[in-house]
Amino acid sequence: MAAHRSTRGKRRFDDDGWTPSSTSIHSPIQQTDDQAIDEDHRTDDADPLIGFDDEFEDEPVWSSYRDATKGPDPVPAWVVTDPRAVDTDHGVLKTGKEADVSLLDRRLTAEHADREPEQQCWLAVKQYRSAEHRMFHRDAGYLEGRRVRRSREMRAMATRTEFGRELIAGQWAHAEFAVLSRLWQAGAAVPYPVQLIGTELMMEFIGSDGVAAPRLAQVRPDRIEAATLYAQMREVLRQLADAGYAHGDLSPYNVLVDDGRIVLIDLPQAVDLVGNPQGFAYLRRDCDNICSWFAAHGAPHADPVELTEFLLRSVPGLA
Ligand SMILES: Nc1ncnc2c1ncn2[C@@H]1O[C@H](COP(=O)(O)OP(=O)(O)OP(=O)(O)O)[C@@H](O)[C@H]1O
Ligand SMILES: [Mg+2]
Repeated sequence: MAAHRSTRGKRRFDDDGWTPSSTSIHSPIQQTDDQAIDEDHRTDDADPLIGFDDEFEDEPVWSSYRDATKGPDPVPAWVVTDPRAVDTDHGVLKTGKEADVSLLDRRLTAEHADREPEQQCWLAVKQYRSAEHRMFHRDAGYLEGRRVRRSREMRAMATRTEFGRELIAGQWAHAEFAVLSRLWQAGAAVPYPVQLIGTELMMEFIGSDGVAAPRLAQVRPDRIEAATLYAQMREVLRQLADAGYAHGDLSPYNVLVDDGRIVLIDLPQAVDLVGNPQGFAYLRRDCDNICSWFAAHGAPHADPVELTEFLLRSVPGLA
């Protein structure tokens, strides 16, 4: 039975008036052959379940973990992996330009778990949009850079047919899942990527009791807090650089502050600093964006030139 997402309990976040650096750079993604699209990935077949939703409205939506591509080992103990767990959608947290992020409660209750203790985890579900009105501002460079095996798929993406849009959305989800997996394994402060199915990425929910952590843009630190947050920002960016990446779209909207701890999100366009000829420009733009926010919010020592040089020294193979 397909999960049926509701928009109940819709919540929105407030942003301040901060605007990112105006430098415009396309965001090519480095693709490898193993990221090429499955022959089976077809969306043009009619869904045999259409029309049956009402009949099954009260049925539990079973966890999709078993059938998904799973996140890296070791799987953290808090992840509910039991296939008898039930998924409950708590509505959209944020409608973004390219994806909707919603809150999911995955729970194994006594009713379904026999004698085992109850288990529960919150997940953030990032559903990349493939619909007509999605904005494709990140796709141009991406399409230039990637390789596909089949000309049918290349044509579909180039002409933006519905099938092509679905493929592009799936590739973004795959790209973000791969980058999160790599960075999480390197110990960087990013959400643990729990699972991937097509255009839907489920990851660790950053927050507590179903309440999302604020974005950095919403935080008003005093000078001591600002210095601590900036030190954490340097460290997580150093970990990215050490893994060979720049974030590629870094701004105070793509950083969460969870009880004083910085967590980077929104990483589908992460840039390969060694392989991408524009890697340095992306890194510099990221540093400009984040330092301008910190400099205006209690950390006047945040200096984009110093930060860029510090990060470049951490990139392996860039002596
Ligand atoms: N793992 C998470 N835990 C909690 N909240 C999250 C998580 N991931 C995303 N969010 C919330 O959803 C918002 C949008 O996420 P994200 O930036 O990844 O998507 P997006 O489509 O790129 O959005 P935008 O276009 O606004 O940048 C975030 O700003 C954050 O408030
Ligand atoms: Mg974002």
